[in-house]
Amino acid sequence: MTETPDAPSPAKIADLPLNQLLHQARTHSAWLPRRVPVETLREVYELARWGPTSANSSPARFVFLESEAAKARLLPALAPLNVEKTKAAPVTVIVAWDTEFYENLPRLFPHADMRSYFVGNQGLIDETAFRNSSLQGGYFILAARAVGLDCGPMSGFDPAKVNAEFFPDGKWKANFLCNLGYGDGSKLYPRSPRLEFNEACQVL
Ligand SMILES: Cc1cc2nc3c(=O)[nH]c(=O)nc-3n(C[C@H](O)[C@H](O)[C@H](O)COP(=O)(O)O)c2cc1C
Repeated sequence: MTETPDAPSPAKIADLPLNQLLHQARTHSAWLPRRVPVETLREVYELARWGPTSANSSPARFVFLESEAAKARLLPALAPLNVEKTKAAPVTVIVAWDTEFYENLPRLFPHADMRSYFVGNQGLIDETAFRNSSLQGGYFILAARAVGLDCGPMSGFDPAKVNAEFFPDGKWKANFLCNLGYGDGSKLYPRSPRLEFNEACQVL
């Protein structure tokens, strides 16, 4: 197969980036007082958007809360344990999904009429939006780590309150939240284990 600069053969990435993305990357709750420039948030999105989604549907939307005023609107929706860490984080992103993501399919998936496949099929819309915005949230976390940010994802919040406050027209819906910044590694708990291959995987 011919190799082009746009489509290099996959190669195993080196230990250093693997450590930064996964092996040594941790979930952070304590943050250094260092702001995150908006250019860095843009860089994260520019990377994360290339992760695959079904029919290239790209339903995730990202709302960055940086100002104290914006954070204040979020705090009443948070589980008590998530309040202080969110106040201290330089940025909190609401990872949301667009309930009308399929309206972009003529542009995002031009080689087939996928829009009409979704219109009127609420079950498929909901399932596709939630599955793929969750995947995109995962790509977002890895992209943030790739540009040197730390993440603190959170599902401990009341989605109805977040949706009423930030998405009153009902078009976007919150999936999960993620604090972003430069973590204070001295405040981390020891790393918890993960399941072994034989516990979590089957090869059939
Ligand atoms: C979708 C999601 C939701 C989470 N919700 C919360 C939360 O509400 N509060 C919290 O303190 N940690 C939350 N966490 C953090 C996890 O507990 C943490 O990522 C996990 O224990 C692994 O920790 P490690 O990355 O340091 O190994 C969440 C993580 C994910 C991915």
